Amino acid sequence: MSEQRESGRPAGMDFYVLTLFPDMIRQALEVSILGRASRKGLIRVQTVNIRDFSEDRHMRVDDYPYGGGAGMVMEAEPVCRAIESVEQRSQKRRRVIYLTPQGRVLNQTIVEELAKEEELVLLCGHYEGIDERVLEEKVTDYISIGDYVLTGGELGALVLIDAVSRFVPGVLSNEESAQFESLQDNLLEYPHYTRPEVWRGKAVPEVLLSGDHRKIEAWRHEKSLERTGERRPDLLEKSFRTVGCWYGGERARSPAEELTRWVSRYGSLMDYDRRKLQKQCRVMEKQELLLLAVDLEAEWPKEGNPFRNLRGRETPLALLTLRGSRDSREKLGRFLTEQGFRLLLSRDLTEQQKAGGMDLLALEIRKKIL
Ligand code: ADE
Repeated sequence: MSEQRESGRPAGMDFYVLTLFPDMIRQALEVSILGRASRKGLIRVQTVNIRDFSEDRHMRVDDYPYGGGAGMVMEAEPVCRAIESVEQRSQKRRRVIYLTPQGRVLNQTIVEELAKEEELVLLCGHYEGIDERVLEEKVTDYISIGDYVLTGGELGALVLIDAVSRFVPGVLSNEESAQFESLQDNLLEYPHYTRPEVWRGKAVPEVLLSGDHRKIEAWRHEKSLERTGERRPDLLEKSFRTVGCWYGGERARSPAEELTRWVSRYGSLMDYDRRKLQKQCRVMEKQELLLLAVDLEAEWPKEGNPFRNLRGRETPLALLTLRGSRDSREKLGRFLTEQGFRLLLSRDLTEQQKAGGMDLLALEIRKKIL
């Protein structure tokens, strides 16, 4: 593999799955897209059999629960040793995720957050659970894949590996496709069609044959909204219309556009260099999200602040500035807060770019408005 991280580590992602059933993990990862990604070395999944760390001559790893009750409990020591066998590989801090119905329910934002890690340790329990003491010592995250109880954590680990791997560059044939898919905007995907054009009397929606990409995007957005309203109205409440906006010419325009693309598939853009826009009164809604990039050293219009007619109704705002002092950034932040915006974050773009670029920033913003 040619691609290397800056740290000198190979690109891709390492998963360590601690389980009593390593075959269950291995077999599932031999096929399809994840099989291909493993063969290419883009994802590296290593299983660690917890039973190998048993201290018992019958290789037992479970025992009766103190206080009585049904079922068995996995002992702390073999689990701890299994985790330590991974820790010994290097000094780095890794997230240790325990798959359990008692965890945070996995969603796309958590998936994207986990995809930023280089390595993940996934701990799969069985029986009634794992001795609490080792969980307290070693586990950093508790994750559930849904509000139902499975016989063990393996299926949860597989779900997590699958969802996270889609964000590893090269795993999907088109790198972009993970970024822009369903749920990014808290909306369900629009319907898809392929040939034949008419199937059993049902025709493909005409707009898709028009070749007019703007119309097609608009139609898809509408269908996404419609479908989410019908099938997952709970998501609709969490969805935002993203508006990318800039002042200060090209320098501000391109980061505003790029960030908007990272945050939302369906974002729209406003160019506040345009006098006409500055003069118009615009009130943004609570369910909108304003991504604003401003060159603080660009000349202000003679009428004053270019955003003087822009108002919010608790509208979330990410303020990104170029050049200019921290003082002037904070002043603009205060001004917009007084205009009704809810400042999610305020950053100098060059510092932000050094900290990791637009993808991380987009993720941070999405986590903040959840
Ligand atoms: N183990 C048992 N049930 C689970 C669930 N719902 N999610 C993750 N791990 C589990």
